[in-house]
Amino acid sequence: MRQPLIVGNWKMHKTAAEGQALARAIREGLHATTVEVVVCPPFTALPAVHAVLHGSPIQVGAQNMHWEDAGAFTGEISPVMLKEWCRYVIIGHSERRQYFHEDDETVRRKVAAALRHGLTPILCVGETLAQREAGQTGAVVATQTRRALEGLTPEQVAGLVIAYEPVWAIGTGRAATGADAEEVIQRRVRGTLAEAFGAEVARRVRVLYGGSVTPENIGEFVCRPGIDGALVGGASLKAESFLGIIHETARAKA
Ligand code: 13P
Repeated sequence: MRQPLIVGNWKMHKTAAEGQALARAIREGLHATTVEVVVCPPFTALPAVHAVLHGSPIQVGAQNMHWEDAGAFTGEISPVMLKEWCRYVIIGHSERRQYFHEDDETVRRKVAAALRHGLTPILCVGETLAQREAGQTGAVVATQTRRALEGLTPEQVAGLVIAYEPVWAIGTGRAATGADAEEVIQRRVRGTLAEAFGAEVARRVRVLYGGSVTPENIGEFVCRPGIDGALVGGASLKAESFLGIIHETARAKA
């Protein structure tokens, strides 16, 4: 059985003090649940949020990292640095691909580096609106998934998390339908994993949906057997809506 997982991606929001307040509110509002919860603050808030959540069931993740351990890479953060504060790291988010020109090779290096240091990658894949309209959704998602994982062992792949985030659904208020997300996840994400690493790996990897998830629509996704939870942007910035999503997920997966 795969444990349900809800991840909050705070993106470029929250100072350290604001992040601490939000983390405290989430910690206080979280009832005992079967859902694993992760929050991903910006780098500058990681130590402060880690301090608040230490000893709680809520895990901390980062939003990005460099693939080298150290070196002359001005402005970058390495997996060695993240390990002090995090268990998880989001890799290949569409905003990184779109605005910072990360390609499948960059993403592959980052995934491998995270695993090398014991961080769990949350690998993001998903098609743009133009790709969807051109009928390329399946091919894009399969290629991104396959290329990000090249060179890994089945055992390494089984432990990671993949988030299917259609780019057109991010921050638009226009979520995918649950049926659509389930179809892409089962056929293209798990299908690709099965081909490359075997059916058992495809069954073990946790796969999330992301894109305009709210407490109102989360049930539509997590009621599907192939969708293990969500990667949440905007609705993770307020404790009330983030907790609502967690509690709805627990109910749906019970
Ligand atoms: P929204 O939930 O704001 O659409 O963002 C989704 C996302 O990109 C999470 O990584």
